[in-house]
Amino acid sequence: YFKRILQNADNNNLGEKMSEDSNSAILDSISAVTEGCRLPVLMSNGEDWPLAEIISIKDEPPSGKQFYVHFIDYNKRLDEWVDEDRLDTRKIQYPRRDLASSGTTGLNTPKKSTTNSSRPTSPILGNDQMITGPSVLAALQQKQQKNNRKRKLDQTEIKLSPFLPIEVGLTAEEVSSRGSVGCLTDLDIQPATPVLPTVPRQTGSLAAHGDDHAITRIKNMRMIELGKYRIKPWYFSPYPQEITNLDCIYICEYCLKYRKSRKCLERHLQKCPFKHPPGNEIYRKGSISFFELDGRKNKLYAQNLCLLAKLFLDHKTLYYDTDPFLFYVMTEYDSRGYHIVGYFSKEKESSEDYNVACILTLPPYQRKGYGKLLIEFSYELSRVEEKTGSPEKPLSDLGLLSYRSYWKQTILEILIKLQPVEGQEKPQITINEICEQTGIKKEDVISTLTNLELINYYRGQYILTLNKQLVDIHRKQMEKRKIRIDSAYLQWTPKDWAKRGKW
Ligand code: ACO
Ligand code: ZN
Repeated sequence: YFKRILQNADNNNLGEKMSEDSNSAILDSISAVTEGCRLPVLMSNGEDWPLAEIISIKDEPPSGKQFYVHFIDYNKRLDEWVDEDRLDTRKIQYPRRDLASSGTTGLNTPKKSTTNSSRPTSPILGNDQMITGPSVLAALQQKQQKNNRKRKLDQTEIKLSPFLPIEVGLTAEEVSSRGSVGCLTDLDIQPATPVLPTVPRQTGSLAAHGDDHAITRIKNMRMIELGKYRIKPWYFSPYPQEITNLDCIYICEYCLKYRKSRKCLERHLQKCPFKHPPGNEIYRKGSISFFELDGRKNKLYAQNLCLLAKLFLDHKTLYYDTDPFLFYVMTEYDSRGYHIVGYFSKEKESSEDYNVACILTLPPYQRKGYGKLLIEFSYELSRVEEKTGSPEKPLSDLGLLSYRSYWKQTILEILIKLQPVEGQEKPQITINEICEQTGIKKEDVISTLTNLELINYYRGQYILTLNKQLVDIHRKQMEKRKIRIDSAYLQWTPKDWAKRGKW
């Protein structure tokens, strides 16, 4: 048996020679790996080798050379330090000079990339920026862009649509029978949630990226401990440099002050007077509470909250001016105290009708419906203010998914419950009525209806047709939303910040 193998090896001498050569090429080319170049890198799942860009290189004995990589088609939260074993230098690509200064996600990110990735390439947006979120977003975004290009002729119809009554039909038969009528499913509606802002905001607690300094592209914190959780940060956050080298930093879950060791935190906890966030508890139902605090009056807490949030928010740069914001911190209560689950910030005055600036569910609580609870609460505040609102742009990948899902469920809930008024065959509703009832801004209502492909134009009026399958799926999804905001438990009167002169 061994002989046979040896014989085969002899016969394959040429092949062996080649693989030896390529081995030495790999060894040689490790030194040729430079910041900005791209090559396949093994992901931490141990399986995929997508194309990645080298963001930074450090030599740290005894571990040797370490490479900070950004996987091109993936969100930056997967960026990490890897050693040379995970680099496939055979397929190295060097940055083209003309692209060297244009990239933003990865730095030298070229316009189009060929990758070994298991996911499709993300769409390219304006401003040379790239969404690196899940592929579903790519598809949605591309569709939206296509729609925008496709139709210009319906501009007036859209303008009018908020005032037009919409007929709501519910049966599958109607869908199929009306399917033959010219349906306007691709109304030319501006995307209500552009993933990129036209001009990044430069003020506030966390504003859209203005700078792209190399340092802020690299995760600087290894681990945080917050209450009973150890959490791995996703992105850079400007904590003081002296604590960024530590294996873990320890954060008081009540006042959010950070300490460099567990001992220091324990000492702090003995003195810390808080068992809940500062500010007023404006909502409590069951174990869920919301605390409202003023970024001017509770500056230190607000700044520490922003520092913490930045660890999980990529598309924002942190600013220390928390004065113009209110913060709504959601907690879950147990016998030890009120544990922070997430929060959102909100400008005291927004010229753009933003009702949320930044929103976060802390990772241990994610994907359990708390994000939607935060969103629901933000719209409840808007309803009390008798306003409609929208989240500040740009949205993150997860932010966009969560909002789209929330809008869809909220609007469907209203449409399904609609009853025809006496003498009418079908129930009717206007887009403005949907806005009023939900607090959702008109553009977002329209984009949701469009994305759902619900709007049809039939015999001179807009018709919404809900098919049975959609309604069934919706009902199943709503069963999962166990905790809901109950407006009866909100104790809050909005302040008119414009009248107050200074915040
Ligand atoms: N992958 C795929 N879908 C996801 C993921 C994920 N990792 N996380 C949430 N979703 C989807 C869920 O499927 C859910 O939709 P569904 O019910 O139709 O399935 C929807 O998003 C919301 O899920 P929730 O459990 O209610 O939301 P969660 O508590 O996870 O919070 C949030 C969502 C706040 C966006 C959270 O992911 C987060 O904090 N991310 C980091 C910070 C961030 O990106 N914030 C938004 C920035 S935009 C802005 O600030 C205005
Ligand atoms: Zn404390």
